[in-house]
Amino acid sequence: MNQSSFSVCVILGTRPEAIKLATVIEELRHTPEIKTYVVLTGQHREMVDEVMTLFAITADHDLDIMKPKQTLTEITCNSLQGLEKIFAELQPDFVVVQGDTSTAFAASLAAFYNKIPVGHVEAGLRTNNLFNPFPEEANRRLISQIAQFHFAPTELAVKNLEKSGVVGEIHQTGNTVIDALLKVANNNPECQVPQLNWHHHRVLLATVHRRENWGAPLQNILQGFHSILDSFPDTVLLLPLHRNPLVREPIQESLGQRDRVFLTEPLNYKELVGAIARCYFLLTDSGGLQEEAPSLGKPVLVLRDNTERPEAVTAGTAKLIGTNPDNIFVNAKKLLEDDHAYRQMANAINPFGDGLASRRIVKIIQKYFQRL
Ligand code: UD1
Repeated sequence: MNQSSFSVCVILGTRPEAIKLATVIEELRHTPEIKTYVVLTGQHREMVDEVMTLFAITADHDLDIMKPKQTLTEITCNSLQGLEKIFAELQPDFVVVQGDTSTAFAASLAAFYNKIPVGHVEAGLRTNNLFNPFPEEANRRLISQIAQFHFAPTELAVKNLEKSGVVGEIHQTGNTVIDALLKVANNNPECQVPQLNWHHHRVLLATVHRRENWGAPLQNILQGFHSILDSFPDTVLLLPLHRNPLVREPIQESLGQRDRVFLTEPLNYKELVGAIARCYFLLTDSGGLQEEAPSLGKPVLVLRDNTERPEAVTAGTAKLIGTNPDNIFVNAKKLLEDDHAYRQMANAINPFGDGLASRRIVKIIQKYFQRL
């Protein structure tokens, strides 16, 4: 094959996509026969820029679509229109998308309209409830129907794809988030929060951002956090806020004045990994944290009614506890009081990957080009 005879366009818009594609981009850029373009939709701004800097990734194009309180329609239409022009200019031979965001859905549709094969990283996750998580469950199902390469993180994801009757190749690769996490964790990153002494307290690391938790469920979650802090004076809550005002304002109102609560801006990825490594356990509605925390030996209480990552629950590293305040309290109490229960969760094996997923994915793309 000639030098750079084929080109791959990697498209991303939000922070989790940047984290989970960073090592894929690195691996692609180390492959001489492939010319790699990175295109940002700009669905997220500051939260993506920080990850790009950490992994030293430069973008070739940026659609810069982010608006405060943007709607799903705006994200989708603006990405679709912007990508049409970019594909006309770059003429990529292959497009890579990740996960289930509106960026990933719009990008795969844009590629499909241009008859460019799509490789879907982290394919095959399912809750089987179209509206939970919303709109992610529908996004990932739609992507599965138009992608031609499905890079499934686990055996269960492979089975889900087979059941969905998808066209194209299914490969079990592991989850690229572990590649990124291990790379960052190996440098023993710090997480310094003013006034927070990691040695004096048991630190509970919490994050909340999901659309289905906006409103009443979020209020319930906050009530659960208050109960934990009331009953366990040796705990502190570290809660990095999402930038979305619809989530951050109610949290600030409820917890902002309370002792032993640290509300911070979103931690950068290095600090986040440092915080996972140092915290006692996590309370979160995030998907990525369910995958990352077990690699650093930390239990995860999942603030949702269902999960597309049941592997974590089966392996014993995560527990689904929903948003009922009493349930949140009871489950946190168990981990705080029962050393055996804590160790069982902390020592369970991470089912999501071994840190080599990106390499496998790029090998599969290379083989596809060799067949052309
Ligand atoms: C999006 C994804 C979700 C993913 C999450 C990770 C969709 C539909 N949702 O949800 O799957 O789990 O990202 O964070 O694709 N904002 C900023 N600066 C930023 C990022 C966001 O100010 O860097 C604010 C903006 O006001 C924006 C709002 O956050 O309107 C919401 O962003 P949006 O991408 O619509 O949804 P997320 O809840 O972040």
